[in-house]
Amino acid sequence: MDNLAVVILAAGIGKRMRSDLVKVLHPLLGRPMLSYPLELTLEHLQPEKTIVVIGHQAKQIQDAFSDPRITFVRQKDQLGTGHAVAMSEPLLRDFKGCVLILCGDTPLITAQTLTELAHHHRRKKVTLTLLTAHREDPRGYGRIVHGALGKVHKVVEEKDATSKEREIKEVNTGIYCVQARFLFKALTKIRTDNAQGEYYLPDIVELAHYKKKRINAVSAPDPAEIMGINTRAELAQAEEILAERVRQHWMAEGVTIQDPRSVFIEPSVHIGKDTVLYPNCYLRGKTIIGEGCRLGPQVQISDSQIGKGVQIRFCTMITESTIEADAIVGPFSHLRPHCHLERGSKIGNFVEVKQSRIGEGTKANHLSYIGDSELGKGVNIGAGTITCNYDGFHKHRTIIEDEVFVGSNTALVAPIKVGRGAVL
Ligand code: UD1
Ligand code: MG
Repeated sequence: MDNLAVVILAAGIGKRMRSDLVKVLHPLLGRPMLSYPLELTLEHLQPEKTIVVIGHQAKQIQDAFSDPRITFVRQKDQLGTGHAVAMSEPLLRDFKGCVLILCGDTPLITAQTLTELAHHHRRKKVTLTLLTAHREDPRGYGRIVHGALGKVHKVVEEKDATSKEREIKEVNTGIYCVQARFLFKALTKIRTDNAQGEYYLPDIVELAHYKKKRINAVSAPDPAEIMGINTRAELAQAEEILAERVRQHWMAEGVTIQDPRSVFIEPSVHIGKDTVLYPNCYLRGKTIIGEGCRLGPQVQISDSQIGKGVQIRFCTMITESTIEADAIVGPFSHLRPHCHLERGSKIGNFVEVKQSRIGEGTKANHLSYIGDSELGKGVNIGAGTITCNYDGFHKHRTIIEDEVFVGSNTALVAPIKVGRGAVL
């Protein structure tokens, strides 16, 4: 968007989280909270400038989001949200457009709401547009105070509000569109004479009102979207809302989910249609699941590719692996990183596989360890077979060619190669 700059506030430690980790790095469905407003900004809003104000654990935040499109600016002491925005002034000195201010602790906001807010602000040619929301329980939020003519007059923080003002259900979301010139002038005028002794960003609203600037309030369509996360309980609530959004998306795309509330799908996961997820599935990272698979109950899959028609049965964990079509894994299997199971292969109960290729139609059905191995097509691995890949100093490979039959309780001391069709 032309003439748009985005400033995201992320300098506070988040006292109410009672954590050693800065609030915006707390994970929400597998990704740090801050990644949500940031990604939305970079992918959907595409402003001229994206500025993130950091303070606590600045280095960790910068390391987590190294993107050349982001400019980080430090707020040394956390003197309040108004002070935080003022830190971006040197970077926006010549900028005459609109500044969209977001909070790093408001991750559920959607691209649609923000785009509409920015368009509305432009169309109405106002100085300041506030995103507000109507919440049944407004506790913890700043309240929007309207004047006699219904115009927005000011925002009052809960700690500074009178009991009458606390009854107001229209709340401040902490998201604003404001003309840069007015913003930075107003920020030099706000004071700390309030309950928290901080420079409150929302005080620019009252200043705009006194200066007879045009102010508009736009209400977010879904109050859940604007939820600010300040406590662990709110973190859990926000995660549940986000998880439900993701589940609804995949159900609409043709995925069956039994007992949806027990299933967690991270936003980066992709699932093919007619796949069934049984209770307690956790799909993480860059996982891609093909069509017509059956997963679970109790399955965790991270950063893996699963082909069409695969079955992942009860109590199975899979990490950074590839499974081709029609394979069956589990119950009670563990695929550690870098496994590749070819079409129609079978890994059964109490089998652990690590960094190995399992050929087409090959079976290891019971109680085995297969590590650093290459198994050909149509191999049968008997119960209790172990590849002894480690001699105490180095890892060695096991190669088993096509159509080999390995009897029960075989210990294959690597390095070792078993030729095609051999019977052990
Ligand atoms: C703020 C708003 C409140 C609004 C609510 C919505 C103020 C004074 N109040 O309250 O009206 O209803 O958000 O969620 O703005 N931050 C900094 N530097 C600071 C202080 C804060 O970068 O000096 C950052 C925090 O890291 C956080 C964001 O600003 O990401 C909001 O701060 P927070 O303390 O959570 O404000 P709220 O009390 O939630
Ligand atoms: Mg907050």
